Amino acid sequence: MHQLELLLLLLLCSPCFFSVSDGRTVRPVKQGPSPPIGAVNLGGWLVTEGWILPSLRRHSQQRTPGTYDGTQLQFKSVTQNMYLAAEQGGGTVIVANRTSASGWETFKLWRIDESTFNLKVFDNRFVTVAGDGVTVVATVASPGPGEAFQIVRSDDDKTRVRIRAPNGRFLQAKTRDLVTVDYDGSTNWGNDDPSVFVITRVGGLRGEYQICNGYGKTKATQVLMEHWRTYIVENDFKFISTSGLNAVRIPVGWWIASDPNPPAPFVGGSLQALDNAFKWAEKYNLGVIVDLHTAPGSQNQYEHSASRDGSQDWGTTDANIAQTVQVIDFLTRRYASSPSLLAVELLNEPLAPGVSLPSLTKYYKDGYDAVRKYTSKAYVIMSNRLSASNTELLDFASGLPGSVIDVHYYNLYTSNFNGLTVEQNIEYVRTNRSAELSSVTRQNGPLTFVGEWVAEWNVQGASNEDYQRFAQVQLDVYGRATFGWAYWTFKNVNNHWSMEWMIKNGIISLKS
Ligand SMILES: *[C@@H]1O[C@H](CO)[C@@H](O)[C@H](O)[C@H]1NC(C)=O
Ligand SMILES: *[C@@H]1O[C@H](CO)[C@@H](O)[C@H](O)[C@H]1NC(C)=O
Repeated sequence: MHQLELLLLLLLCSPCFFSVSDGRTVRPVKQGPSPPIGAVNLGGWLVTEGWILPSLRRHSQQRTPGTYDGTQLQFKSVTQNMYLAAEQGGGTVIVANRTSASGWETFKLWRIDESTFNLKVFDNRFVTVAGDGVTVVATVASPGPGEAFQIVRSDDDKTRVRIRAPNGRFLQAKTRDLVTVDYDGSTNWGNDDPSVFVITRVGGLRGEYQICNGYGKTKATQVLMEHWRTYIVENDFKFISTSGLNAVRIPVGWWIASDPNPPAPFVGGSLQALDNAFKWAEKYNLGVIVDLHTAPGSQNQYEHSASRDGSQDWGTTDANIAQTVQVIDFLTRRYASSPSLLAVELLNEPLAPGVSLPSLTKYYKDGYDAVRKYTSKAYVIMSNRLSASNTELLDFASGLPGSVIDVHYYNLYTSNFNGLTVEQNIEYVRTNRSAELSSVTRQNGPLTFVGEWVAEWNVQGASNEDYQRFAQVQLDVYGRATFGWAYWTFKNVNNHWSMEWMIKNGIISLKS
């Protein structure tokens, strides 16, 4: 080879493969950031949450507004002035003899179309018509056409509904102890009609399942493709990298592993968005934590785990755990060669006692091994169980090199934060949270990660300066976590929950 050619070749290749400097040939393995990291979550992007971006479902047309999968309704008979109840919580008759409503009087919707639903009762069985063809009972384990009820709403009074059974007749509270499906005919929606019920909505979810099943496949694909393309863009990665942050934590849903054809109602396309995220992370030298935020069956019953109706079934069978390990296998295999793959988080916020410690540690061990098949470098993050001891994973994880325990610290959600002043909130972080974090951070134990926190609280009317001090004390304390921390979240219609807004408005400043 000519010397000139050699020189040219070296010049062309030096940035990508090797460089020749001071006489040595160095393999410049491009290196992402290393702990401790300061990161931000890209929440609400590949796993949607209604409260982060309510406009996402603006276009979903509902004949009965607010009726999605998991919406919880109570029905009060206008003639009996009593609530419908699944007697015994399910397994037997529906009655209309309750003066007040709680669990047995609450029905969860499974949406079939804009006005047709299955009705799930307290013990997870579904409402149907008994063998006699008239009595209403809650005895079915998995619903089919025989359990499809239409909810017909009054045009004048949106709280008044009638319920049409699959046989075409309306359900009526014949007596307090007898609910049947044998009411024909029209109605004036008056208080004398035994087929009229007043509904109260007592809960519901606004997550990915609701978005997808609410829109239907075609429209959901269109809406979510647009969301993935526009909600987080390359410029956001640029902004993050120039703000003093060095990593992103990206929540993903389990269905991403079967992209482009995930099981209904989820839709394909989020994998392309994650590919883009890695491309941009590499460009701006950011680490990526791939965070499995939802597992099949839901590990915590919340909308952010894409639960259908608030039930929690993850981890109850070996097949379910194996399926989740496959998702981790898929994701690690795909991104192991990227210098930006900082960590794989095996599961976000499993909730005790629904998720048992033995099934969780079995999954964490298998998930850890799946990651290690492809990389010895990426950290493997394990989220503590909510409502359990924050040290319960330490012995287990100590035997796994490169493992990290994720704890989430919010001064919200439990009653001990109600009524705390600005100073008390700050003191709580300074004293109690740092003690908690110290108890999780052990020598020779796993690294520690405050994977979610936010400068928001139950204080009303706090000043910008109060928020600055609250953010700063958290940065100080969580800065002692040995793996680092991640703010929840980057974008949010609620300003204090948006790190972008907090940085742009000078409440959080990372560059000292
Ligand atoms: C409601 O009706 C059922 C069926 O007759 C009966 O077993 C139950 O005791 C009644 N409950 C009340 C509170 O009246
Ligand atoms: C915080 O820690 C202090 C000192 O250890 C303790 O007295 C207090 O009860 C703790 N506060 C809460 C809300 O747990």
